[in-house]
Amino acid sequence: MDVENIEKLESKIRWEINRCERRDDLQAVRVKYLGRKGQITLLLRSIKDAPPRERPRLGAACNRLKDFLEEQLAAKAEELSRAGEANELYQPPHDPTLPAHDGIRGHRHVISMVLRRMKEIFYGMGYSLAEGPDVELEYYNFQALNFPEEHPSRDTQDTFYVTDDILLRTHTSPVQIRYMESHTPPLKIIAPGKVYRNESIDPSHAAEFYQVEGLYVDTDVSLADLKKEVEIFVQQLFGPQTQIRFRPDFFPFVEPGVDVAMTCFGCLGKGCQICKQTGWIEVMGAGMVHPSVFRAVGYDPDVYSGFAFGMGVDRLAMLMYGISDIRLFLADDLRFLYQF
Ligand code: PHE
Repeated sequence: MDVENIEKLESKIRWEINRCERRDDLQAVRVKYLGRKGQITLLLRSIKDAPPRERPRLGAACNRLKDFLEEQLAAKAEELSRAGEANELYQPPHDPTLPAHDGIRGHRHVISMVLRRMKEIFYGMGYSLAEGPDVELEYYNFQALNFPEEHPSRDTQDTFYVTDDILLRTHTSPVQIRYMESHTPPLKIIAPGKVYRNESIDPSHAAEFYQVEGLYVDTDVSLADLKKEVEIFVQQLFGPQTQIRFRPDFFPFVEPGVDVAMTCFGCLGKGCQICKQTGWIEVMGAGMVHPSVFRAVGYDPDVYSGFAFGMGVDRLAMLMYGISDIRLFLADDLRFLYQF
């Protein structure tokens, strides 16, 4: 063993450390040279067997080798840990051919679901679809529907006006007028759509909501026909045990006008929270088409008769799903919307 051999070991160490890929590999190199039976350890131990005048040079060379090993190990460890961090930051390149994440999936709004069910029922009863504009002429929304000039709902307090004679429709009844103007009886339509009222907003009042209008015109249409049609509709929506009740009510465009209620589906008429202990739930306004309305569209009221009804979709949806605040329909709160 001489100094030259010790110096050769140096390049061997350099090479071995260079190949290390992990901290474990570095540890293995350390043990190989500095462990209890490590090569440097054995070298240091064998110095005492060398001739005395050789010993200082051998000792110094061994110590240099030992320091060199420690330095190399430390430098490599540092290098590996820097590479490790970089590894964590590493993002694979974007691959557009990979399948997409199974992210949030949308579905129908609860109002659309209820509206669709209502349409299905009415289509099954022979009604077809009619539509009118949300931005409506005052003439169709009020005048042709026999609203007197000074009727309170014409007030800007209740109605959003665009100009003096253009407004946001306050109900779907103007579609009745538009449809009759362009068709001759017999006709049987529903007109679903959004309506707008200048309401102060609270849990049961919104400034925009949905209605479904119904209109049936023919010769010899009676109040009994209206009653039967409404009964069939609510029984299909709320179940065959549902009964209906007509009470007189006033709307300028019908005569007689009725307020339609059905037996409460919660208590079947006994009285509960849903029906506020009355056993009845109001579902729509209805009545026989007023002769003035027929005259406005050029129908002879002595030849034709008809009924009309109108109901709030939001209200029905609230009843069907036990929703307590109408504002939730427009609130865009996914926690609410995903429940349906
Ligand atoms: N348009 C009335 C309303 O919005 C409802 C209705 C429609 C009443 C048809 C009678 C006939 O309150």
